[in-house]
Amino acid sequence: MIQIRDAVFRLGPVLWWLLMFSFCCPSGTECNTTNGSFECIDPCVNYITLNDPWRSRENRNDTIHCDRNNHWSGWYRFYLGQISAQIPNECIEENRCGTHAPLWINGTQPTQLNEIVNRTVCNAWLGSCCHFATHTIQVKLCNGYYVYKLQQPSTCRLAYCAGTVTTKNTIVD
Ligand SMILES: *[C@@H]1O[C@H](CO)[C@@H](O)[C@H](O)[C@H]1NC(C)=O
Ligand SMILES: *[C@@H]1O[C@H](CO)[C@@H](O)[C@H](O)[C@H]1NC(C)=O
Ligand SMILES: *[C@@H]1O[C@H](CO)[C@@H](O)[C@H](O)[C@H]1NC(C)=O
Ligand SMILES: *[C@@H]1O[C@H](CO)[C@@H](O)[C@H](O)[C@H]1NC(C)=O
Ligand SMILES: *[C@@H]1O[C@H](CO)[C@@H](O)[C@H](O)[C@H]1NC(C)=O
Repeated sequence: MIQIRDAVFRLGPVLWWLLMFSFCCPSGTECNTTNGSFECIDPCVNYITLNDPWRSRENRNDTIHCDRNNHWSGWYRFYLGQISAQIPNECIEENRCGTHAPLWINGTQPTQLNEIVNRTVCNAWLGSCCHFATHTIQVKLCNGYYVYKLQQPSTCRLAYCAGTVTTKNTIVD
């Protein structure tokens, strides 16, 4: 009897950990398991601001950036100046967005508030809207803006493009 109690006592935290790991967080949030402790992170709140004027889809300047050189970690919200921005959902002309091959999302935006979707990122180069290998990122619709779990593109010189937000999903409360 004592042995069983002892075993339960010892295994308790492990079982709890497994339970948490399987069911961890509500949809739209992410499980952060840093140092063995759990936290449900909402990317709409816990994001890094990306405010590079050179990412603008209107930018034709020839300073060339490469997002493969960035160590992307976590979620990002785009701005152009004071205004929320988003990665365009249409093919962008080459040599825009402060790079050679602008990165754009081939797919629709999420439409449900708090919805997280996976999307393919294409790159425009040599007359093709999807020239180099594509990669996948996650997109979440927040209240009037998007956040993106950015990943490194496959090569240089590719960089995420930014345009103005077109969401009509702003919730007025
Ligand atoms: C995680 O643990 C390491 C080593 O004990 C410690 O240096 C670090 O500050 C911890 N990080 C957090 C976020 O608690
Ligand atoms: C492009 O270059 C011009 C002249 O250097 C500068 O005034 C402008 O701010 C630049 N635009 C962007 C989007 O970087
Ligand atoms: C996870 O939690 C740690 C410690 O609080 C923090 O440093 C890290 O940025 C978090 N990760 C994400 C993706 O929010
Ligand atoms: C989205 O991608 C993640 C890994 O990046 C995967 O775990 C998840 O199942 C994917 N979701 C859908 C709906 O495909
Ligand atoms: C975008 O994705 C669709 C569906 O996967 C695909 O048919 C289409 O060829 C892609 N567009 C480009 C420019 O590659």
